[in-house]
Amino acid sequence: MCGIVAYVGDKQAYPILIKGLHRLEYRGYDSSGVAILNGKLNLYKRKGKVNQLEDFVENKDINGTIGIAHTRWATHGQPNDENAHPHFSQNQDLAIIHNGIIENYVSLKEELISRGHKFLSETDTEVLIHLIEDIQDNEKLDLAESVRVALNQVVGAYAIAVISKDESNKLIVAKNGSPMVIGIGDNDFYVASDATPIVEYTRKVIYMEDGEMAILEKGKDIILKSVKNIIHTPYFQELTMSLDALEKGGYEHFMLKEIFEQPISIRETMRGRLRLGQGIVNLGGITEYKNKLMNAKRILMIACGTSWHAGLVGEYLFEELTRIPVEVEYASEFRYRNPIITEDDVVIAISQSGETADTLAAIKMAKEKGATILGICNVVGSSIPRETHAGSYTHAGPEIGVASTKAFTSQVTLLTMMALMIAHEKGSITNSRHQQLLNALDAIPNQIEEVLKTNDFVKEVALLYKDSKNALYLGRGYNFPVALEGALKLKEISYIHAEGYPAAEMKHGPIALIDEQMPVIVIAPKKGHYDKLVSNIQEVKARKGKVIAIVTKGDTEVRNMADHVIEIPEVEELLVPLVATIPLQLFSYYIAVMRDCNVDQPRNLAKSVTVE
Ligand code: F6R
Repeated sequence: MCGIVAYVGDKQAYPILIKGLHRLEYRGYDSSGVAILNGKLNLYKRKGKVNQLEDFVENKDINGTIGIAHTRWATHGQPNDENAHPHFSQNQDLAIIHNGIIENYVSLKEELISRGHKFLSETDTEVLIHLIEDIQDNEKLDLAESVRVALNQVVGAYAIAVISKDESNKLIVAKNGSPMVIGIGDNDFYVASDATPIVEYTRKVIYMEDGEMAILEKGKDIILKSVKNIIHTPYFQELTMSLDALEKGGYEHFMLKEIFEQPISIRETMRGRLRLGQGIVNLGGITEYKNKLMNAKRILMIACGTSWHAGLVGEYLFEELTRIPVEVEYASEFRYRNPIITEDDVVIAISQSGETADTLAAIKMAKEKGATILGICNVVGSSIPRETHAGSYTHAGPEIGVASTKAFTSQVTLLTMMALMIAHEKGSITNSRHQQLLNALDAIPNQIEEVLKTNDFVKEVALLYKDSKNALYLGRGYNFPVALEGALKLKEISYIHAEGYPAAEMKHGPIALIDEQMPVIVIAPKKGHYDKLVSNIQEVKARKGKVIAIVTKGDTEVRNMADHVIEIPEVEELLVPLVATIPLQLFSYYIAVMRDCNVDQPRNLAKSVTVE
């Protein structure tokens, strides 16, 4: 987690850094800070959000054309002013920002303390900058070389940027396990944890590789090398991201904007891939691995959180369409339980950010054991796509709200396309069924536009339940993962306790919770176990629970039983998750807004979970 941004060049650094921090605030928001060189090394940091830092630096000296900045999600030490980044070295001549964890910081710290170093914070990062200065002083090395030598003593994950009073045109950056992008300007360099702070200044970027460091000096070419001191040739890439995607565009929150963007984001996921005229799905990124996937003995979907829910939908899709057995695994469990993995397994890693530490570690492990690893990620150039053998990007566009919405529906869309492609190749579904499903998938964005028209009604229902203490979400088959996702959305942004359950499991425990205070959200479309769901709704009503049902347009049976019904268009059973998810996202959103919660930045969360 944590967001880092740095600049060296001709422009004033502060406005670039502070704007960059706002763009990266989704990565962590418990404290932030900035250090700017201007003869002196001015360092300001504050507990709280980036705008608290902005208030703090008002009337302070923020001049300078080189600087580093950080927004934090606490790992070592509480979120307070001292633990906020940047950190000074012992003599206060150097400053550092860091995203990641230095695992051997305790032994390094003891060693430095024995040599007279005094620390002001509880962080691992401060240890690293003291170590760099210690090496510089003792071995009489320049800044870049001292950083390099220090990094060879460090175990752990890092993306760091370091500046020094004595080398005032130079920014040293390095990466291992945490993301880092360098933007190449005309006479300047921009550095950030992702491309969002960079895109308005330059589109030419380098995504750093693990074990690399760079020396960025105003007016000079970049020097890229390994921390083992081998010079690397930079690989420049062009950013395609649009700036509009990074703004709220008139919506009150990013989350609401992203919910409403879903017709577009799903179209983007399908663009050029779902070819109705030819009757095919073409996923260029995985063509080479099509046979491997078709002949897989087993598919493992590995993910965390919302992406794991997308994987569950994927399990139903792949097993129904391709008849290949699928297992869906929480990355954090999978990586620590010595799972059986063979060369005939195909792992599909699903991740919006492409940076989730557990997912990354799990696929590294599966790769070592010989499995083929495919990725479904949203953030281009992130770590997971670079660790996989092949994959497809979701192309949902930047998702800035911490609660995932459009990324989920794009992941499900991509999984549907993948399953259809394999099923068609294998012949596990008929040509006519394949074409029928392609047509149905193609119609989904328009159908989501229809669902979004329920917005005002969903808001009215939300008002009635905003003070609930608990909520239960029920679904069967394809809609069981939708129930899980609905519950996760509600709890993470409104802090109401919510649980998702397979509807039939209600009788085995959760039914005991039901009383007149308990909203039960039931996904009950006409296709897929409808009669069974009707019985489940009756069971809830018999216990005086309040039922909010998601039903197919025109449904009358559930309407007569439920307290509220929200209609979705009639779609193929296997596509219902794509439309049924939308009202649940809106419901959570409005409840959170009505409870005055910070919808885009819920407490304790961060969008990229780069620590395990
Ligand atoms: C929930 C949410 C998280 C993420 C999870 C995995 O709204 O956003 O549960 O889904 O942290 O993140 P990615 O998909 O980036 O691997």
